[in-house]
Amino acid sequence: MVWSLSSTVTVLVFATLMTTSLHSSYAIQWLALAGHEPKLYWNQTSSCRRAKAGMVSAQKKICRQELDSMEGIVEAAELTKQTCVKQFADRRWNCSSINTAPDFTPDLDKGTREAAFAYALAAAAISYSMAIECSSGAISKCGCGRTPPEEADADFHWGGCSDNVGYGMSFSARFADAPLRTKRKRNQPESLMGLHNNQAGLLTVQENMKRKCKCHGVSGSCNVKTCWQSLPEMEEIGSKLKRKYAGATEVVSEKVGNRYNLVPVDTNLKKFTEQDLIYLTNSPDYCRQNEKTGSLGTVGRFCNKTSIGNDGCDLMCCGRGYKSMVITIVEQCQCRYHWCCYVKCKECSRTAEVQVCK
Ligand SMILES: *[C@@H]1O[C@H](CO)[C@@H](O)[C@H](O)[C@H]1NC(C)=O
Ligand SMILES: *[C@@H]1O[C@H](CO)[C@@H](O)[C@H](O)[C@H]1NC(C)=O
Ligand SMILES: *[C@@H]1O[C@H](CO)[C@@H](O)[C@H](O)[C@H]1NC(C)=O
Repeated sequence: MVWSLSSTVTVLVFATLMTTSLHSSYAIQWLALAGHEPKLYWNQTSSCRRAKAGMVSAQKKICRQELDSMEGIVEAAELTKQTCVKQFADRRWNCSSINTAPDFTPDLDKGTREAAFAYALAAAAISYSMAIECSSGAISKCGCGRTPPEEADADFHWGGCSDNVGYGMSFSARFADAPLRTKRKRNQPESLMGLHNNQAGLLTVQENMKRKCKCHGVSGSCNVKTCWQSLPEMEEIGSKLKRKYAGATEVVSEKVGNRYNLVPVDTNLKKFTEQDLIYLTNSPDYCRQNEKTGSLGTVGRFCNKTSIGNDGCDLMCCGRGYKSMVITIVEQCQCRYHWCCYVKCKECSRTAEVQVCK
């Protein structure tokens, strides 16, 4: 009796460990809301329930209470996937695994540098798309963004409708952080890492806001200039975060009293800031396929034989060498604009020699 009870407990503990380790990237599960099958309509709260693996319960609650925010979340999920794949197109790790949401492979599921980038980008994308949703009037709770106070000697006035980055950031902190703030997860190193990187993503959006202006006055004289705060392009946010990815700091969890802190592994390095990305687990080199690390390997990847960069055959193929092939590329060409209003193109095909990794 005693034996069977304790073995049940062991099995239960084991089962719990298994599920947590399988879903430690639960915090970006919501990326599955892009291209969700079956299609979800955000005019009815029943969709919140139907988006099963896409959201944790705290996010489903936000969904039910603020249904008009959900189009923005779906948009953010799409932007995150597109931007990540684009930023890493020339790398061994090319972000293709982000499309497996809501179930991630270990490259995004353990506290890697790649996960750090994906989290920061995803949090940034929510603040980005919510800022636009607000200023375009799609959400009842928010409108145009605040502008800084007028300066006496400025040659412009604030006017027009600014992108509401303030609302975007606070919404993102509620939605993207929710899975990391549950009682059970709160003190886990992965959660602390996630919260830090989410915040770094939001700050990257805020740091890169632009002032855009419009001139008024007789024939473009610009007597009066009105300006508003505008978001950077998502691509710019992606490239800024990629730079932070390259300079990310490896950290470990350290218990201080009842609290856990993340501190740099290398104590000689200067302390990371709020704006920096941090990671807990070293990444593999992504050269060969390895299910344990989530590496897909680079066999069959295109490479550039004259480039000495990341897309060059040396680096991409990890010294295994490459094969040259001639392929036919079909493209749209000789596009002409027809009045009114469509563009008509021809299809042209050309052959090109390409290199693929052995
Ligand atoms: C929501 O939109 C879908 C598709 O347009 C429609 O079939 C459904 O009836 C709508 N639901 C509500 C509650 O309006
Ligand atoms: C990304 O890498 C994987 C694995 O090497 C490959 O199958 C896929 O085609 C690559 N995607 C792009 C867009 O190059
Ligand atoms: C290959 O790399 C070279 C040198 O960086 C560059 O000039 C060229 O455009 C690249 N070719 C392709 C097909 O991207």
